[in-house]
Amino acid sequence: MIIQPRVRGFICLTSHPEGTAQHVKQQIDHVKSKGKIENGPKKVLVIGASTGFGLASRITAAFGTDAATIGVFFEKPAAPGKPGTAGWYNTAAFENEAHAAGLYAKSINGDAFSDEIKRQTIDLIKEDLGQVDLVVYSLASPRRTHPKTGVAYTSVLKPIGQVFTDKTVDFHSGVVSDISIQPVESEEDINKTIAVMGGEDWKFWIEQLKDAGVLADGVKTVAYSYIGPELTYPIYRNGTIGRAKDDLEGTVPVLNDLLEGIGGISYVSVNKALVTQSSSAIPVVPLYISLLYKVMKEKGIHEGTIEQMQRLFAERLYANGEIPLDEKGRIRVDDWEMREDVQTEVAKLWKQITTENLEQISDIAGYRKDFFNLFGFSFDTVDYDKDTNEVVKILSIK
Ligand code: NAI
Ligand code: NA
Repeated sequence: MIIQPRVRGFICLTSHPEGTAQHVKQQIDHVKSKGKIENGPKKVLVIGASTGFGLASRITAAFGTDAATIGVFFEKPAAPGKPGTAGWYNTAAFENEAHAAGLYAKSINGDAFSDEIKRQTIDLIKEDLGQVDLVVYSLASPRRTHPKTGVAYTSVLKPIGQVFTDKTVDFHSGVVSDISIQPVESEEDINKTIAVMGGEDWKFWIEQLKDAGVLADGVKTVAYSYIGPELTYPIYRNGTIGRAKDDLEGTVPVLNDLLEGIGGISYVSVNKALVTQSSSAIPVVPLYISLLYKVMKEKGIHEGTIEQMQRLFAERLYANGEIPLDEKGRIRVDDWEMREDVQTEVAKLWKQITTENLEQISDIAGYRKDFFNLFGFSFDTVDYDKDTNEVVKILSIK
C-alpha cells in the first residue's frame, strides 16, 4: 500500500517500513563508524527497545560491542492494509541487520509493566542466554496497570503549585503562542505520574530478574532521566514528571542494595532533550528543543539519540576507569546541552522567538525532520508515492 504521514496533534498515525529501516540503518552506521567499544556488555536486555533512547541503546550494544540483545516493547504489529507502528518496523529492521551480522536478537511485544511479560522475558533469557550483564530501562508511557493491585494509572504533565505560562509552538503550523497550564489539583496527580514513570517498575524488573538468577555477576542496569534548563522547570523537572524522575533516581540506591551480593550496580543517565514520540507530547519542550538544536548545531555539538547512547556506552558506562558522576551520583550525557554558553544563547533566543522569526532563529525545520524521521518519513532515499509492503515481520516473533 502507499503510506503517507497522517498527523494528528503531536502524533503521527502512520509509519513507513522502508523509511524506518533507513532510520535504523543510519543509526547502525553511526555506531560502526565509532569503532568497537572495549569491554562492552555481551548479553543485554533492553526494556523499551523499539524507539528513542531504548532503540539507540540496543543498536549501540549490538553493533558497538557485538552484544546479544533481547528487546521488550509495546508496539502494534503490521497487518495487511494496516501498517504497524514505527517501533514495530524499527525492530523488524534491527533484527534483520543484527541477524545478518551474526548477532543474537530476539524481541518480546507486550506490556512490560505486567508480571506476565517479565516472566516471558526471564524464560527467554534462561533458554537462550543464561544471564544478562546489562539491563537498560527505557520505558516511556502515559499509563501503567499496576501488576499487584490491577489499578490503572494515567500520568499527567502539569506544574505543581502555580499556573505556568510560557511560549509553546505547534511545530506543524509553526505558530508560536502563549500557553497556560493549570497546576495539579491534588497529590493524586503527582502520585499517578510517579506510579507510571517513577522507579517502581524498574525495581520490580530487577528484583524478578535477580530472583530468577538471570543477572550475571557484575551486572549493570541503567535508566534514563532528564533535567533541562530553568525555563522548562515548571513543566518538567519541578512538575509532575519531575517528581517521577526524582523517584526513578531515588531507586538507584535501592537497586544497588539489591545487586550488592552479585557485584552489580545501577545508574541513572541524564540525557539530552531530543525529539522522540514521548517528548513531542510535552508543551513548551518542542520549542526549547528547536532552539537548542539551532545553537548546538551551530557550535558543532549537536547529537541525536544514537550519538547520545554511543557516547553513554563508550565514554561513561564502559569507559576505562571510574565513571564520572555528578554530585547526586548521576551519569550526565546532557553535559553539552547544559553548557553555559549553550544555555545563555538559548535563553536569549527564547526571549525573541515569535511565529514570524521561528524559521530563522530556531531549527524548527530540524525538529520537523526528526519528528517525521521517527515514523520513517522525510527520507530522501524513499519514494513515498510508491507502493510499499506494509506487512513486515519481526523474525523472532511468531
Ligand atoms: P520513546 O517513546 O521513544 O520510547 C518508549 C519505549 O517504551 C518504546 O520502546 C515503547 O514501545 C516502550 N513502551 C511504552 N510503554 C510500554 C509498555 N507498557 N510495555 C512495554 N514497552 C512499552 O521514549 P524516549 O524518549 O526514548 O524515552 C525513554 C526514556 O528516556 C524515558 O525515561 C524518558 O523520560 C527518558 N528521556 C527522554 C528524553 C527526551 O528528550 N526524549 C530526554 C531524557 C530522558
Ligand atoms: Na526508548
